[in-house]
Formats: sequence, C-alpha cells, structure tokens
Amino acid sequence: MLFGVALAVAGYLAWMNHDATWRSDRPSLDRPAPLSLEAAREAHRLADRRHELRLREAAAPGSFLREMHATLDPKRIAAGKVCLAELADRGQQLFEHEYNFADGLGGGGSATAPGGPFRRVHAGLFGGPETISCPSCHWVGGPNGAGAETDNAFLQGDGDRTGSGDARNAPALVALGVVQALAREMSRDLQKERDDLVREGVRAGAGREARLTTKGVDFGVLRATPKGEIDASGIRGVDADLVVKPFGWKGTAADFADFASEALQVHIGIQSDRLIATGSRELLGDGDDPADPDRDGVRGELGRGPFAAMMAHLALLELPIVEPLIQNRQLPPPAHALLPPTTTSFVDDFQRGRDQFHTLGCAACHVPMLVLESPVVAVEGLPPIDLSREMRRPALTYEPALRGYPVWLFSDLKRHDMGTGNAAQHLQRGVALNEYLTPRLWGVADSAPYLHDGRAPSLDYAIAGHDGEGAAARAAFAALPYEERGPLRVYLMSLRRVPRLVVP
Ligand code: HEC
Ligand code: HEC
Repeated sequence: MLFGVALAVAGYLAWMNHDATWRSDRPSLDRPAPLSLEAAREAHRLADRRHELRLREAAAPGSFLREMHATLDPKRIAAGKVCLAELADRGQQLFEHEYNFADGLGGGGSATAPGGPFRRVHAGLFGGPETISCPSCHWVGGPNGAGAETDNAFLQGDGDRTGSGDARNAPALVALGVVQALAREMSRDLQKERDDLVREGVRAGAGREARLTTKGVDFGVLRATPKGEIDASGIRGVDADLVVKPFGWKGTAADFADFASEALQVHIGIQSDRLIATGSRELLGDGDDPADPDRDGVRGELGRGPFAAMMAHLALLELPIVEPLIQNRQLPPPAHALLPPTTTSFVDDFQRGRDQFHTLGCAACHVPMLVLESPVVAVEGLPPIDLSREMRRPALTYEPALRGYPVWLFSDLKRHDMGTGNAAQHLQRGVALNEYLTPRLWGVADSAPYLHDGRAPSLDYAIAGHDGEGAAARAAFAALPYEERGPLRVYLMSLRRVPRLVVP
C-alpha cells in the first residue's frame, strides 16, 4: 500500500514538472519543464550569462564578488526584504563561480600548510584548495550533482600523499532544504522524549529508561537517573546531544550551511565571514589579521550576504523522482501518470526489485519514505522558507492520508557501523571510524561511482562494500542466483533525478 502511494507520488511529481502555472502568492521560482523548448532557451540564457560574467572577470578580476557584496545586504535578506527567487539565482551564480586569486582563492595558511595554487591532498583540517568551483566536484548526473572518482577529496591528510588522507567522493546535492527540515523534526522529537524521560524520572524519584524513536526510526535506549542525569550509552546512530546530523557521509553536520562554509574553505580556500566567526585556527590558518586568517592578502572574502544567497540556492534544490521511465512528458496530467508505469518492459523488474529491496533487508536502513510534518525550514541567515511553495520542482506535495509531506529519500538519517572494511583513518568531528550515515539513495542512478570513497563503480560493488551492520544484506544479495539480481538493479536505477538541459 505504501508503494502504491510511492508510485502515485512519483507520478504526481513528474506531472508537477510540466505544469507551468504553479500557483503561488509569492515571487515564483517557476522554471520551464526540464526538457522543453523554453528550457533550452533558458539553458542558453544561463550559458550566455555565465560567459558574460567570465568576460567581466577577464576585464576586471574580482568584479563579480565585489558586486555581490555591494548588492546583497545580509540584514535585508534576513528580514525577508529580498525576493527569494532572485536571491537563489545569485546563489547559483556564486555556487558556479570560478574563484580566482582576486577573490581570495587558496591561502598562505600556516607554517604547516604552505600556500601554492593547489594541493591535491588536504593539509590537516586546513584542506586544499584542490579546485576553483563547487561544480568541479558536484556535477555528475546534472547541476549540483555528485563527483567522479577523480574528484575525490583526501581529508585531513599530510598535504602530499593521497594515502595519508581519507578519500571522500562528493555526494549529489539533493533537496538539501527538505533533508534539513526532516532532521530538525527528528531532533525535536528525540529531545522531547529525553526531556519527558528526565521529568518522569525526577517526579517518580526512580530511574527510567525509554526507547527513542522518531518517524518510525529507532535510536536505541536512553536512561535517566532519579536525579535527572542522563546515560546515553544505549543510544545508537546519533550523538548524545540527540541532534540528527544528516549531512556528510558520516553525518557530521545538522545544517548544510555548516558544510558549505567548510567546503568553501577546504576545497577553494574562500573564507566566509561565517566560518571566520566559528572556525578553529587549524581550519582557517593562523594569520594575525582576523579578516584574513589564511594570509593571502584578501580580507573579508565572502560576506554574510553572498553566503546567504548561496544557502538559498542550496535550500531550494529540487526533489528526485522514482520512475523507470518518464512517459509522455509534455502531456497534461493524464490519469496514467498516477498509476505504476505500464508501458515499458521494466515494470515487472521494477516491482520485483521493490520487493527484493525489502526482503533482502535494504529497507531496514534505507527507509524508503519519511513523512515531513511541516514544509517550513529554518536556514541560517534567511527568513523561514515554505519549501512546498518555494523550492524548485519537483517540490514537496501534501498527502492528506499521511498528514504530511512524503519524502522518498531511502535513508533513516542514522549512522551505522559499516565494519573495518570501511574504516576511516581520521576521526571526523568525533564520529567513530567505522560509522557512516545511511546515504539517501534518491537519485542514486545518477551518482556513480558509489560509497564514501567512490571505490564502487556499480551498484553491485556498492552492495558488496557493505560490512558490519550491512553484512547480512550484502550476504542476502550475494546469495541470489546471478540472473535474479537484475530486478534490484532496475529498481535502484529508477531512483533518479529529473533530466535537465545543460549548456556548458
Ligand atoms: C574537491 C571536491 C569538492 C568541491 C570542490 C566541493 N565539494 Fe561539496 N562535497 C565534497 C565531498 C567529498 C563531500 C562529502 C564530505 C564528507 O562526507 O565529509 C561533499 C559534501 C557536500 C555537502 C553535504 C551534502 C550532503 O548531502 O551530505 C554540501 C552541502 C556541499 N558539499 C557543498 C559544497 C559547496 C557549497 C561547494 C562549493 C563551495 C562544494 N561543496 C565544493 C566534495 C567537494
Ligand atoms: C545497516 C544499514 C544498511 C543496510 C541494511 C543496507 N545499507 Fe546500503 N548503505 C548503508 C551505509 C551506511 C552506506 C554507506 C557506506 C559507505 O559509504 O561506506 C550504504 C551505501 C549504499 C549504497 C551506495 C550509495 C552511494 O550513494 O554511494 C547503495 C547503492 C546501497 N547502500 C544499497 C543498499 C542495498 C541495495 C541494500 C540491500 C541489499 C543495502 N544498501 C543495505 C547502510 C545500509
């Protein structure tokens, strides 16, 4: 029954895609249907704009960022006085911008992390830089996509040997606003359960324990003493602070702003005011000038205004879809869009694969759907955003039967022990070496290679890389006769992003 809803929702999302008159009482983010003639014109317009920017940069290096600083006032943005659609558009430009020395690319760093244009392997927490733009790693499968194996970052290394760092493949940036909203609701639930437990223990003058669950996901057992002290040793998959951190392979950040400010520094050497306010000297460099800790002579490289614009872009990224093939894209909503795909030979495989996903135990961690209660997300530096209205399509849609917004993410947003076969060398924000967050499999068809280090060229290899808590599911898949494995692959290959026209 749930999967009936899955298909209905997928069909509906696909249909939403070619409805050009999405109603909204706010400035619209409407974009043309992704493969239409208007979309082609739009892609060309963006390509022209990008080239014009390059020419302006060629004439006057640093002019783009200067203009962004001059026009994007963080106070007006936070007060909601700037049109969100325009802000996100600027943010996309900042995401795509090729940063140069005039912008503050790279940095002298410290004695242990000397300057130089690029460094393939991160020097400790200070990072590279290894490149000049976000899309140089986030591009596979379309804009804001994943990274190829050759784009891997080598975290916390010695600045020289790839083997000294932890290899990390860039994940696709998918519906980050929705993910943040889901994680916030889960943290809120877990923390409320903790507070209730403590209150109950103190009131009864006795020790208490409770299983913490939210959105159907079990996070283990929390104990409280009669005095209200907490014992979090039975908690699983989340830190003792009970804040669900859905970003990064190891689940290291609750806010994507946190991740993006670090990405700007470690990959490009651009220091945002946000990072300067919160980051350690190891991360920022040890320069004496607080506005230029990486000692590259550029002060205030990325202010709060431009940073907020980039966050608006990331917050509004669209949802992926669940469909083997999209039929009749240009037609108005046909009844069959709400039914399982019936016109292709992959339907049987899709349905059998969907069953296998459950019987093999994949769905225990890659939970297909979580229900979001409120579509409003809080993103640092921005007024609250109602994603059901503002995000790029396919967007969240309300499902009355669920009393919320179904999110087909294929994850429990929880960390699991993936065995010594996946162990990292360095601790990342204190997360145990073997632990990884269940990656969201939405859009997985468009994000090869797989696993945290990109070592799996195909889905079969990705499954074979499951160790520790994932070993049983790996064994179950391996036990299938070879010719029985196709349906699961077809099912996973149906978890895809909406195709888009891209003009380089
Ligand atoms: C050198 C390659 C590289 C570049 C360039 C890069 N990233 Fe990433 N990105 C990664 C990797 C690798 C990860 C996963 C890191 C981890 O798990 O710790 C990641 C993860 C992320 C995440 C978390 C996504 C999630 O769903 O967990 C965000 C957000 C992000 N990057 C934003 C950016 C932004 C913004 C830029 C440009 C300022 C950028 N990245 C540039 C490699 C890159
Ligand atoms: C115990 C929880 C768990 C189970 C059960 C599980 N997975 Fe995973 N899965 C994970 C984690 C955690 C990772 C990330 C591991 C890593 O990168 O080292 C992952 C990674 C993946 C990836 C790679 C995703 C990417 O973006 O690179 C795929 C594909 C995948 N799993 C599919 C499956 C399938 C299919 C099954 C069932 C046969 C399954 N998983 C069972 C937790 C689980």
